[in-house]
Amino acid sequence: MLVVETVPELRQAVSQLRSTRRSIGFVPTMGALHAGHASLIDHSVADHHATVVSIFVNPLQFAPHEDLTKYPRPRTADLKICDDHGAEVVYYPAVHDVYPTGFRTTVHVAELGTRWEGAARPTHFDGVTTVVAKLFGMVGADIAYFGQKDFQQQTLIRQMVRDLNMPTQVKVCPIVRDPDGMALSSRNIYLSNAERASGLALSKSLLAAQQHWNQGDRDPALLMSAMQAILAAEPGLELSYASIADVETLEPLTSPQPVVVAMVAGRVGTTRLIDNAVLGPWQPL
Ligand code: PAF
Repeated sequence: MLVVETVPELRQAVSQLRSTRRSIGFVPTMGALHAGHASLIDHSVADHHATVVSIFVNPLQFAPHEDLTKYPRPRTADLKICDDHGAEVVYYPAVHDVYPTGFRTTVHVAELGTRWEGAARPTHFDGVTTVVAKLFGMVGADIAYFGQKDFQQQTLIRQMVRDLNMPTQVKVCPIVRDPDGMALSSRNIYLSNAERASGLALSKSLLAAQQHWNQGDRDPALLMSAMQAILAAEPGLELSYASIADVETLEPLTSPQPVVVAMVAGRVGTTRLIDNAVLGPWQPL
């Protein structure tokens, strides 16, 4: 496995892969890799002749008061996971390599980024779409892999790819959960045992909505009240939002639909957690 730190090195590595292999998969990450990231690498390795992973804690998607400096950066462990799972190239740049002096261009996807996570983190999604557009341009992969866990993120990225006719396709991979139901996240390491127990209310509320759905309930208000009953009973959770929304526009729904996304977010202690479940058959656009 080759680790490169600059765009010219990355381009050279990718063109070497291209000369001998037919297809390239790409997994963009911010490091602190866990089994969820590993499963994205596994999907890419299964689908492609070569896989490129990027590890870059993107300052543009953090607000000044957020956890940029304390965001975990376990370089050795991260590179081992990439290697163990069959990545061929890892792009591990410094901030100035991605954002050189004089950098001015950003990518803004209108409307989709203002609700939900965007309401709590107004500059976040411009930072995400900007860095993903740059990484797509640097790597030139056939398909890039994103987790369903960041549901709004993958929605914005797919919209950006369609709107800007980007040649890299997006594949969304299922959420990986711990046995207790907690969705894996790099931020879970911040949680004490008590906070983790409170945070489990998120996945439990989604399970309740799923159970109602499986019994044939389609009324968004009914699904919402099943979620709210669990969330309201957890005093350690400061709820940001719970919603039954359209899978593509992310608008809250009031009438039954064949497929919906149940989204939930909240804070336990100082850690913000998000989770979601798609109810019904979903084929991302
Ligand atoms: O999901 C993440 O880890 C990040 O938001 C991403 C897509 C790598 C962009 O920095």
